[in-house]
Amino acid sequence: MEKLNAVITGVGGYVPEYVLNNEELSKMVDTNDEWIMTRIGVKERRILREEGLGTSYMSRKAARELMRKTKANPDDIDLVIVATSTPDYHFPSVASIICDKLGLKNAFAYDLQAACSGFLYAMETAANFIRSGRYKKAIIIGADKMSAMVDYTDRATCPIFGDGAAAFMIEPSTEELGILDGILRTDGKGLPFLHMKAGGSVCPPSYFTIDNKMHYIYQEGKTVFRYAVSNMSDVSAEVAQRNGLDKSNINWVVPHQANLRIIDAVARRLELPSEKMLVNIENYGNTSAASLPLCIWDNEKKLKKGDNIIFTAFGAGFTWGAIYVKWAYDSNE
Ligand code: UT7
Repeated sequence: MEKLNAVITGVGGYVPEYVLNNEELSKMVDTNDEWIMTRIGVKERRILREEGLGTSYMSRKAARELMRKTKANPDDIDLVIVATSTPDYHFPSVASIICDKLGLKNAFAYDLQAACSGFLYAMETAANFIRSGRYKKAIIIGADKMSAMVDYTDRATCPIFGDGAAAFMIEPSTEELGILDGILRTDGKGLPFLHMKAGGSVCPPSYFTIDNKMHYIYQEGKTVFRYAVSNMSDVSAEVAQRNGLDKSNINWVVPHQANLRIIDAVARRLELPSEKMLVNIENYGNTSAASLPLCIWDNEKKLKKGDNIIFTAFGAGFTWGAIYVKWAYDSNE
C-alpha cells in the first residue's frame, strides 16, 4: 500500500465580536498600553461576553466555516478532536456537542487537553488516525474561552489572554504534503508555575475556593517565559534540522501567540527574519489552544502549495512541541 500523508485541506475560524482593548483594560486594572505593548505585544483581545455561550459555540462557528470552505458533507466526517482547557462542562466533551450541532452522524469525537500546546497534540493525533488509512476526514479544533478563567483584577494575567476558535480539516493524500514530522514533549514540571488551583478533583469548588479566587489562572510569568523560549526554540531547531530545513527554505513559522518577546527569541534562534514569523498576537492575545490555527486562519492567503511551515507551541504541564507541515493548497478565498 502506498504511504499515506495527513494533509491540511482547509481552515475555518471564529472570534467573538466584542473587543477589549488596552485603553478599556487600563480602566479595570493598574496598567497601560505602553507596558502591555512592550512587555507582551497585545493591543486588543476578543471576549465572548454573551451569557450562556461557551467554547462549543465558538468551535461550532469555526467548524461550520471550515465545512463550508471545504464543501464537506457532514456524513463524511469520521473524527472530531477539540483541543481545549475551557470546555463548556467538565463533561460531556465539547466535541460531542459539536457532533450534535453540526449533524455529524458518523464521527467519533473527543476533547484533548494539553493547554496552549493542545492544537499541536491534536494535529499529531489526527495525522496518525489519517495515516492509518482507517479515517478519511478529520476535523480538529483549537478553542478556548480564556475569559472564563481570567481574573480581571489581576494585572499580571488579564492583559495576556483572549477568546477564539479555529479548525483544520485533515485528509489523506499520497503526495509528499501535509503534516510530515513532529516532536512533542511533556514533562510535568510546570505544575507549580501555571495552573488553576481549584475546581478539579483535588480541590472541588466550595465557598472557600471562590472566596480565595482559586478558579482563575495562576501563573509565575517569568519562569514560564524562560521555559517557553528555550523549549520552543530547541524543538523547532531540532525538527528543522532533521528535515533539512533552515533559513533558506523555511517559508513560515507559526508560533504560539503568548508573548511577542518569546516569538522574537524563537526567530533569533532559527535565524529567521521577523517577516517569516506569522503573528496576530496584537489583535487576539493568547487564545491558548486556538492560537496556532487562528494564526493560519488570519494568514491563509499568504500560504502557497509546497510552503515549508513549522508550528511550535508551549503551555501548561509543561507541554510543548514543533510540527513540520508542507502546505497543500493555494487559498482561493
Ligand atoms: O501560554 C502559556 C505560556 N505562557 C507564557 O508564555 C507567558 C510567559 N510569561 C510572560 O509572557 C511574561 O512573564 C509576562 C507578560 C506574564 C510578564 O512580563 P514580565 O516582563 O515577566 O514582567 P514581571 O511579571 O516580571 O513584572 C515586571 C514589572 C513588575 O513591577 P516591579 O516589581 O518591577 O515594580 C510588575 O508588577 O511589571 C509590573 N507589571 C505590570 N505593570 C503594568 C506586571 N503586570 C503589569 C501590567 N501593567 N499589566
